[in-house]
Amino acid sequence: MTDFRIIPGDIPLPLPTMGLEFMEPFFHGLLIVAWVVHILFINVLLGASLASVYFNSKGHKEKNPIFDRVGYLLTTPVTISENMGALWGVAPLLLVSILLTPLFYSSSILISPHWLHIIYGNVVAFLLSYLYKYTWHTLEHRKTLHIFIGVVGVALFYTLPLAFMSNVQLAMTPTTWTYTTNFWDALLRPDTFFRLVHFYLATFAVTGVFMLVYGMYKRRSKDEVDRQAGIVLTRTGKTWFIIPTALNFFVGPLVLFSFPDYGIEAFFANGYFWGIILTVVLALYALYQLLKDFFNDDIPDRRVWTVVAVMVIAIISMASLRHGMRMGLVKPVLEASHAKTELFQKESMAAFEEAKTKPKTYTQGDTYPGKTMAEKHGCLACHSERVKIVGPSYRDIAAKGYSPEQIVELVYQPKPDNWPGYMPMPPMPQVPAEDIKVIAEWINSLK
Ligand code: HEC
Repeated sequence: MTDFRIIPGDIPLPLPTMGLEFMEPFFHGLLIVAWVVHILFINVLLGASLASVYFNSKGHKEKNPIFDRVGYLLTTPVTISENMGALWGVAPLLLVSILLTPLFYSSSILISPHWLHIIYGNVVAFLLSYLYKYTWHTLEHRKTLHIFIGVVGVALFYTLPLAFMSNVQLAMTPTTWTYTTNFWDALLRPDTFFRLVHFYLATFAVTGVFMLVYGMYKRRSKDEVDRQAGIVLTRTGKTWFIIPTALNFFVGPLVLFSFPDYGIEAFFANGYFWGIILTVVLALYALYQLLKDFFNDDIPDRRVWTVVAVMVIAIISMASLRHGMRMGLVKPVLEASHAKTELFQKESMAAFEEAKTKPKTYTQGDTYPGKTMAEKHGCLACHSERVKIVGPSYRDIAAKGYSPEQIVELVYQPKPDNWPGYMPMPPMPQVPAEDIKVIAEWINSLK
């Protein structure tokens, strides 16, 4: 049974598409595409930055200029991916905050201090990676320092997906908000954990494909060191693609089955099973293509492009699967949110219409014209709103249910018999009847 105890639909919000229902499929398409582009750049950023530091230190240790060159060549895709990744990250963030407002809003709040880590974590990691790239030659003779800068930057980059994944995973599973109430809870859950493993492995696989393409171009270089570096890139690309992709065949099912039951049911009910089959077949085909040329450093261009094309389709398929799972998980919440919002809007409209037809009633906290008037005519010397002074409290008088006309009469000609135990109120004929009516309206609002 699904238990949405903290239903984010309790927050009355305009409908997620703000009346532009026909735009919804477009928004969802844009979300899938922008998210994939963003993630691919992030994959290359993470993978290439780690590889760069690795080859930098390998080159230093073995005094091998080829490895040093590989490390240096890899700094270019790192800085490009940083900028493109950040740029393409804006779109998913904005789209999610519109299409999935109640979910994303709540999950961001739940992990808030760590969510904000993205801001300074990114800034520091960015700056370090630039420092690393542009001091490659200046720090040639202080390699330990240079490698240290690289390691700190890379380590920081690798912490950022932790915050992203926890937030996304929390947003998708509102049934867990009663017991997952902070970043660490969210991070250490099996579903978040498996997804992170899946993500990091995919990062190496995507970087592997990137290295194959990069290596293919570098192998044609006239510069001998670049040519050798190209061969190293090709070899590394193969292993980086093959091993993580193979591992992900096992991690993938763990990710799928760590989702809540109702999400898995919706996922299969919507036919996404075939998407999984397609992705697996494509990935196996890409593996087969690379294994054929595993010991060939001069892997033909056509093979490289085949792997790229196959993996692009596989990634699009994966992205659609992910979106399908997401929507299956959040549908009940979004529907509850829509229903709540509609009810809220209906109720507010009804209250507004009623207020237009009914005479104005005064509630505490308003400035009451009647109160000012009572003050002016000295009534408050003997009467207060809630407690008896010389005369009865206005709340007690209101309980009698007099009409404004009757109150005018009683002020002009008090009837002390109505209030045994009180001194008689002096008649006050000097107060205009119009003013007494205004006071009367205020008195009657105090019921
Ligand atoms: C000097 C004190 C005093 C002042 C000033 C005074 N009242 Fe009263 N009022 C009383 C007392 C005492 C009673 C209860 C006995 C009575 O009805 O005479 C009373 C009763 C009332 C009642 C209830 C009448 C009923 O029969 O139930 C109303 C209404 C009322 N006052 C309105 C006013 C208004 C309006 C003003 C100002 C324009 C005002 N009073 C000024 C002392 C005062």
